[in-house]
Amino acid sequence: MVTGSSGLTETRKNDFRFTRRKLLAGAAGFAGGAMIPGSGFGTAHAADGFLEITAGPAQYKLYKDDAAASDLWLYDGGLPGPEIRVRRGERVKVRLINALEEATSIHWHGVRIDNAMDGVSGLTQDPVPPGGTFEYDFVAPDAGTYWYHAHNKSWNQVGRGLYGPLIVEEDDPVFDRDHDLMLIMDDWRLNDEGRLDTESFGALMDWAHAGRLGNWLTVNGKSSPSFALKAGEAYRIRLVNASNARVLELDPDSIGGQVIGYDGQVLTAAEQATAEALVIGPAQRVDLMVVPEAGRDLALVEVSTRERFAFAEFKVTGEGKGKPPARLPLANTLPAPDLSNATRVVLDMTGGAMGQMGPMRYKGRELTQDDMRATGQVWAFNGIANVGEQPLFEAARGETVLLETVNNTAWPHAIHLHGHHFRTVGADGSLGPWRDTFLIGREETVKVVFQADNPGKWLLHCHMLEHAAAGMTTWIRVT
Ligand code: C2O
Ligand code: CU
Repeated sequence: MVTGSSGLTETRKNDFRFTRRKLLAGAAGFAGGAMIPGSGFGTAHAADGFLEITAGPAQYKLYKDDAAASDLWLYDGGLPGPEIRVRRGERVKVRLINALEEATSIHWHGVRIDNAMDGVSGLTQDPVPPGGTFEYDFVAPDAGTYWYHAHNKSWNQVGRGLYGPLIVEEDDPVFDRDHDLMLIMDDWRLNDEGRLDTESFGALMDWAHAGRLGNWLTVNGKSSPSFALKAGEAYRIRLVNASNARVLELDPDSIGGQVIGYDGQVLTAAEQATAEALVIGPAQRVDLMVVPEAGRDLALVEVSTRERFAFAEFKVTGEGKGKPPARLPLANTLPAPDLSNATRVVLDMTGGAMGQMGPMRYKGRELTQDDMRATGQVWAFNGIANVGEQPLFEAARGETVLLETVNNTAWPHAIHLHGHHFRTVGADGSLGPWRDTFLIGREETVKVVFQADNPGKWLLHCHMLEHAAAGMTTWIRVT
């Protein structure tokens, strides 16, 4: 693929293990994660019932309190943005106010939404210009753990902090608010001063390799936050991976507990939280149920690099004995796919460094290597880089689609389908849990099946946001 003179096949320039260690060395005893006072934001409901959320620049400390502040772009000046919490079936009404210097829009990740409200700039709406507003008004049909994020130049806008939590409560929640924790994890690339490295946004090196990997992790915008838990009480911990590109691998022994949901969809029975279950790709969610034991603190520890990185702790107090709830929240009823009557679609993923490339078209013409460098288009779905005039495929409403994704690249990816949930199909035909984003390893093939029941134009893309921008984006039409 892109080899030789382009220099893209060199080994990764940044060895994050070392920078991580260096940052950690200076990091003893801090809370971090402070908005600089006086940013002047406040979330408010307007008289017409819309929650007004302003996207704008903000100074924010991602690292130690005495470290320099970073230039972030945030919703209402917060990291994450304001928590939106509704009951299943309720309306979400948000007026986005754009105080950025570039156009933006909000996507409601994982919500089976009305297409016009999906928030994809250039596909389902025009991007909202600086100074402009847009009203999102939709019903949240399914309970669960979701998040919202910018969907215009996401590699840049999400990468600077434009995201927030969206929780849709069950009709009869099992965990009360004190036992329901939303933890949005994010991976940042900080420079030697502990500030967000903004110069490297858009680096072709990242786009053609693993995406923009960072060297520092936050939870809800804070460095190493501490949560207080009571022994013997059951907690729901909603984990969201908001990283641009890092697949987070959490150590199961440090957190314990059981998985009760993936990508917002509660399971019918809790499962052991194995190492495999705690591999969380960009945009994916895992809901855990944790019943801490007296005398044993818990932690989130990331293990994808050689150096274990503890980035949140849970202090356990009290003597209580474990009493998990008598039942789990009720699973949503989603439109069931009919595997025996499915239309098969093959998605061939190519490109990127260290793989074979094959011919690639972008905006209707064949890309040369010079074009690739000029446009940053280095990945393709079925030979086509990025969104074109034509959808990848069309499905009639109610049709079951078996999407067979073949990863002919040297990199893992996290593929997200908008507007629908799907199930993975095992080699023996068994169906996996409902998800909206699946991970696929290098040279791997993954089959997912779903009922295309939601009319409109839906994006299908890698949620490693640099890959999406560099070609791994297409769309489907449901008619
Ligand atoms: Cu989480 Cu296309 O988005
Ligand atoms: Cu990817």
